[in-house]
Amino acid sequence: MLEVIHISDTHFGPDRSHMIRGANSCQRAEALVAGIRALPFVPDFIVHTGDVVNDPDPASFALAAQVLADLPAPVYYAAGNHDEASMMREALAFGPLEPLTVLGGRLCYRIAGAAGEKVEFFVMDGRVPPEEGPHGHLSDSQMSAVLDRISGTKSVAVFVHYPLTPIGSKWIDEHLLVTNGADFQRALAAKAGDRLRGIFSGHLHRAVTLFSGGVLSSCVSSPVCEFTAGPEDTSCQFLAGGAIPFNHLTFTADATMVKAYHLPFPAGS
Ligand SMILES: [Fe+2]
Repeated sequence: MLEVIHISDTHFGPDRSHMIRGANSCQRAEALVAGIRALPFVPDFIVHTGDVVNDPDPASFALAAQVLADLPAPVYYAAGNHDEASMMREALAFGPLEPLTVLGGRLCYRIAGAAGEKVEFFVMDGRVPPEEGPHGHLSDSQMSAVLDRISGTKSVAVFVHYPLTPIGSKWIDEHLLVTNGADFQRALAAKAGDRLRGIFSGHLHRAVTLFSGGVLSSCVSSPVCEFTAGPEDTSCQFLAGGAIPFNHLTFTADATMVKAYHLPFPAGS
């Protein structure tokens, strides 16, 4: 059995006073770290599915590294649309990993170590140039590298900033997904079969858990602010001042469990 904590979209700024839509990103990330430290177990590892910082500059990554260093287990990061992969590799401490493409320009790897022996966990990089928009895209080389690395004998899970498949909210489905995500998920399902245990994402600033084509798709929200997501929405609004979210994922031999936590902020209120 593996216990994994899934967090996302901390949007650190260059200093502790940085505010996003009325929310102090650093204080909220500290509350997130405190909440994870207070769990009655130590997770096998933690995955942050991107948007570690709000703007990719060394000061923001340095502050993120300082705060997230208090997390109680090895941490893995996916690149978000607000991040920059080479700065992430330089500033942030990653758990043991096996690169699947040249790290630096792209963060595509398999999680190594004892947990990686039990389940094949892949972290992928869907980032596109920011001027192209907030959607993601997976390169052929990454998709081939992951598909080739799947052994066919172990369970498989993928972490990527952007969800691969629609969630049923018009604006999000049009603008925030991996543009070739549905095709890649089909290829994954064809290779891994019923060993495909889920796709885990951030980016939506919204908690979503659904099945798409029989595959679990789980998205954790942001501790900074949430997005609205009505079925017919043609834009999204920001909801600041919400709870501090993280997901607890449990992988047993034959089940995947997603437990969503939403902690009060400030802590104890
Ligand atoms: Fe974000």
